Amino acid sequence: MSRFRRLLVTSALPYANGPLHIGHIAGAYLPADIYTRFQRAKKRDVIHICGTDEHGVAITIAARKEGKTPRELVDYYHENIKKSFENLGIYFDNFSRTTRPVHYELSQQFFLKLYNEGYIEKREVQQFYCPNDRMFLPDRYVVGTCPYCGYEKARGDQCEKCGRWLEPTDLINPRCAICGATPELRNSFHYFFLLNKLQDRLKEWLESKSKKWKPNVVKFALGWVKEGLKPRAITRDLDWGVPVPLEEAKGKVLYVWFDAPIGYISSTKEWNPERWEEFWKRDDTRLIHFIGKDNIVFHAVVWPAMLMAHGEYVLPDEIPANEFLNLMGEKLSTSRGWAFWVDELLERFPADYIRFGIAYILPENKDSDFDPYEFRDRVNKELINKYGNLVSRIFGFINRFFDGRIPERSDLTPRQKEAFDHLVKIIEETENAIENFEFRKALYTLISGAEYINAYIDRIKPWALIKENPEEAERELFLMVNMLRSITIGFEPYVPFSTRKVLSAMGIDEVEWDKAKEIDGALAGRRVENTGPLYRKIEDHQIEELVELLKKRASGGPEVEEKKEEKQYITYDEFMKVDLRVARVKHAERIPKSKKLLRLIVDLGDEERQIVAGIAQYYDPEDLIGKNIVIVANLQPRKLMGYESQGMLLAAGEEPILLTTEKWNAKPGERIK
Ligand code: 2FM
Ligand code: ZN
Repeated sequence: MSRFRRLLVTSALPYANGPLHIGHIAGAYLPADIYTRFQRAKKRDVIHICGTDEHGVAITIAARKEGKTPRELVDYYHENIKKSFENLGIYFDNFSRTTRPVHYELSQQFFLKLYNEGYIEKREVQQFYCPNDRMFLPDRYVVGTCPYCGYEKARGDQCEKCGRWLEPTDLINPRCAICGATPELRNSFHYFFLLNKLQDRLKEWLESKSKKWKPNVVKFALGWVKEGLKPRAITRDLDWGVPVPLEEAKGKVLYVWFDAPIGYISSTKEWNPERWEEFWKRDDTRLIHFIGKDNIVFHAVVWPAMLMAHGEYVLPDEIPANEFLNLMGEKLSTSRGWAFWVDELLERFPADYIRFGIAYILPENKDSDFDPYEFRDRVNKELINKYGNLVSRIFGFINRFFDGRIPERSDLTPRQKEAFDHLVKIIEETENAIENFEFRKALYTLISGAEYINAYIDRIKPWALIKENPEEAERELFLMVNMLRSITIGFEPYVPFSTRKVLSAMGIDEVEWDKAKEIDGALAGRRVENTGPLYRKIEDHQIEELVELLKKRASGGPEVEEKKEEKQYITYDEFMKVDLRVARVKHAERIPKSKKLLRLIVDLGDEERQIVAGIAQYYDPEDLIGKNIVIVANLQPRKLMGYESQGMLLAAGEEPILLTTEKWNAKPGERIK
């Protein structure tokens, strides 16, 4: 672990304004948990720190919506989130709250240090005030058009579309998000963090990371810094938050993004008042922040700048940010109900299934998609059929042939040692991948390890060997139990509940990674306890019910109505961007397990495309072949039931009638205007 002597791992503090969903888990918490479980198994000095983020407008808006006070809201969700993490096996050394006294104290000290050292400055500002609602509008309460990308619903703090950090006064055509009125500018004052003073140091520091960090993180952060950093207001006129610790600033609180990351420090201090400084103040600590993509700017630019200005704390060494997890081809949306909540999955599946299913598709380098049917297949075919199968086979042999005792035959032949060495290589590969934050690769490597052991059993055929050469069979089973133990240790960070059962059945209570690379002589003669049924396959009806639940929830939500209200026009130029083309259907078939979808291969003259369309209840695939239809040829591809649709066909009516071009002699690929 190079110059580092301890690891301080944090996961983004989730807002205490709603339950956890699969997007949260895939973004930060599962990778962080896999990583820290691994490091613990490596016997390193590691802590995993988190807590709920309980301030800011995200909280006050949600409280307003639920008819609660912010305090009631955060009390409820803190407990709720904490429980979900526990049930999912996401382990933290401390899970704190940003409303605790230790956090107030530390945040205020942090502010004062920066203030006294000239990094924070008081400035007069003009701020939006809504005469209707009679309040200063926090950034997020102002909406308007983004000056950078033209997105019309940008919020006053950040544009969701292009990701820029904004000031409300940057917005074109600003409106009050509560009532829609045009707000007026009034005078107030705020405290500004002089990011510009740290511009050069930040740039140099980020450049030093450019080869090491994920490209998405460095690119985004450096791009932002190179544009030139401006002073940012870090206080708000709000009655919910950490009070600004200055007499003259009564009624003002710290901006939530100023106090939240300080929560990493305060949570560590709460964890251990004796050791927190060792973790935060010694430069042989390796600080790693696990976050989702929407948090990159704050963690890779603003927070390091705060730390540089403060001067006493270590800087992040790694920020392995993940991209987004989509759900069945669409973006997650909590307001629309298009998400799976962790709790509703936990009601239906063991935590290990959820962990395995998500780990398999972690959006490490690009967005990925959670499809419940694929989730079923992965758990059934990869976890249960491969790893689970191994456990029942090997423990089954031990029970059947040796009365439940592991044979005392540790004198392996060179060939057997070689077979074990191959598995050691797999464990080492897994280890390297985890160290590099490549959690998917590590998981696939482990699965290949399970395949390898299964293939080994097939080759050795213990059921025959026990009759032909019982002594040799004992040796082989001793080896197989050791292989099982090794791969189980490897899987522990991913599926801790079931693997710990397997290990404890072998009398192993402590997960020690490096022991996976050695034969464990102590196993000889040990009795294998019954694990009980380790896994049960996910059944189709469970998935169908889950999908049904999601679709019901997502239809007719408030956002759908909102869409109906607005009549939106597009410009002529926008219309001209739509590339409509004649396409000839070359091939059509039903998509297995889907009632609605057909998969078409269409000819566009100079290329072929795959189109997935919801017309299976109305058209027979055979009837479509040879037809000239109309498609949108430049629509962003998206996945439906695991198939990429590279365009969309045009159809009209409830029982859709396809638009065809029978009456004119159209050629495939011809453009329609
Ligand atoms: O995006 C979020 O959910 C924020 N609550 C993350 C904060 S991370 C850290 F700064 F505390
Ligand atoms: Zn208003």
